[in-house]
Amino acid sequence: MNILSPSILAADFKNLGQQIADVDSAGAQYLHIDVMDGMFVPSISFGMPVIESIRSATDMVFDVHLMIMDPIRYVEEFARIGSDIITFHQEAADDPQAVIDKIHSFGKKAGIAIKPGTPVSVLIPYLDKVEMILVMTVEPGFGGQKLIPETIDKVREVRSMLGDRNLTTDIQVDGGINDANVMTVVGAGANVIVAGSAVFKGDAMGNASKFLKTMGN
Ligand code: DX5
Ligand code: ZN
Repeated sequence: MNILSPSILAADFKNLGQQIADVDSAGAQYLHIDVMDGMFVPSISFGMPVIESIRSATDMVFDVHLMIMDPIRYVEEFARIGSDIITFHQEAADDPQAVIDKIHSFGKKAGIAIKPGTPVSVLIPYLDKVEMILVMTVEPGFGGQKLIPETIDKVREVRSMLGDRNLTTDIQVDGGINDANVMTVVGAGANVIVAGSAVFKGDAMGNASKFLKTMGN
């Protein structure tokens, strides 16, 4: 079954609790939480107090996407406040394996992310070490961008690299995914689908239900 992970970056923050309840009742399994530090990416989003405060609002899986430099510094804190999956960028870490080990030491799932310009080969040492691989389908930093078509081939390559090793690791895609292109990324091998604008702009519950239906759930 494919997983929908609505990204709250596109939510209406004055009604955040309600927006989360809407996608939860639509059946979205994960909640995608984008943390940006103004260094790894140009923008700054939100951090621990927001995550801590929404943790009690839902049982959805908290899928935390760290777009921050030197992520190992904050793994313990993100684990403590209730993240279930902690995904960091390969490009932002000196020693990705150390970050993975630290995430696992707190009993959390680890994800490793690559930007559109990063070759999939950098993932090879970590393929059997993580629970999820995030192939960014836009440049990280902002919601509402258009999917970069070349990234779909990267999803296909990662799925085949995993298959060669008999691994069924989750592949997440993030950026510019909508109801019209979601089956293309699923066909390429992605099974965890992030969608920000396409879910939260307008009727979040209706949009999430439609996504789940399109994805065959
Ligand atoms: C971008 C973030 C995404 C963003 C996706 O850096 O990682 O999660 O919220 O938003 P959309 O779906 O609008 O492209
Ligand atoms: Zn994200």
